[in-house]
Amino acid sequence: MPMNSSATPVATKRIAVIPGDGIGTEVTREAVKVLKGATSAQPTQLEFAEFDWGAERYLRDGTTLPPEAVGMLRRDFDAILFGAVGDPRVPSNKHAADILLGLRAKLDLYVNLRPVELIDAALTPLRDRGTNDVNFVVVRENTEGLYVGMGGQFQRGTPHEVAVQEDVNTRRGVERIIRYAFDYAREHNLGRVCMSDKSNALTYGHELWQRVFSQVKVEYPEIESRHLYIDALVMEVVRDPGQFRVIVTCNLFGDILSDLGAQLAGGLGLAPSGNIHPGRISLFEPVHGSAPTLAGKNLANPAGAVLASALMLDHLGLAGPAEAMREAVQTAVRAKHMTVDIGGTLGTREAGDWLADFVTKNPA
Ligand code: NAI
Ligand code: MG
Repeated sequence: MPMNSSATPVATKRIAVIPGDGIGTEVTREAVKVLKGATSAQPTQLEFAEFDWGAERYLRDGTTLPPEAVGMLRRDFDAILFGAVGDPRVPSNKHAADILLGLRAKLDLYVNLRPVELIDAALTPLRDRGTNDVNFVVVRENTEGLYVGMGGQFQRGTPHEVAVQEDVNTRRGVERIIRYAFDYAREHNLGRVCMSDKSNALTYGHELWQRVFSQVKVEYPEIESRHLYIDALVMEVVRDPGQFRVIVTCNLFGDILSDLGAQLAGGLGLAPSGNIHPGRISLFEPVHGSAPTLAGKNLANPAGAVLASALMLDHLGLAGPAEAMREAVQTAVRAKHMTVDIGGTLGTREAGDWLADFVTKNPA
């Protein structure tokens, strides 16, 4: 609805919804429902357009990410809400790589932002830890490192086989992610940034991280900066997670660390993420995949997708409804008005209905 009943045009934000496969389609449906509820009384309205890129389409006509997709998204949309991709009928996962990795690379979404926030102390596997102890964000570099796909294999399948996978770290790439971590800490008043690498062993690539970190941190004198090697960091995150606020690290370590974090905060069903390029169209998704064994059973937890949608609203400058959505999830999780994975009794749709109802009755 681009106009309201008066003559004043209502501001609109256009959201491209890519539900993908399996439970991706189920959780995005609920997230859209909650987004509509949270913004219904807002001066800024959301407009949704859905795209059927995923396994079904790929198996039907070979389409993964259409060639015009990136230009169209940049031109016509403000943000992307993504479900998950992956289907047992496509063992190569080619469509998933083309769609998700393609969007991350082509839209240059260099920040993978993964908040780790424990909502209910009962949900953490750590003994004697509460909601104040598990509350940090992982800022993962999302475009470089070991995941660029540079390398090769030589004499494959022979006893003399050689496999090389290059770790790519650019000055620009390292600097912009470290800077983002400090800016995030400043903007959210978090006071502390920890950079983690393995520069003692990776003496070229990660020595660059060390140098850039020392240069950038002096520009943020009010923020306490610290460095830990990744092996020490993961020990500390389990021993005493309360010491961390913002952790910035490379693509590989960030991937592993954020899944560790997701478990500390109650599991994959609750974990959100943003794939962000500040100031540009960005993509928001739950951390979990398409969970084929849960698909079609109304069992998937929609909270990760709803919290990812709240991150999307933050990115669009709609802080009020974003907060309303987070409050809805907190209330639902604590009262167990949720799915069975976190001890509730509701189905995916019923949990989504509850959240949508809550945000409509408790607007920002
Ligand atoms: P997964 O995250 O889909 O599922 C792992 C397990 O976690 C599930 O069996 C389920 O027990 C639980 N789980 C995940 N999400 C849940 C939710 N919302 N509610 C309740 N329980 C939940 O990871 P898996 O099984 O390794 O991968 C399945 C497919 O998803 C694969 O094809 C994989 O490539 C793809 N994948 C896609 C991702 C993406 O699109 N960003 C991320 C991770 C995996
Ligand atoms: Mg992962």
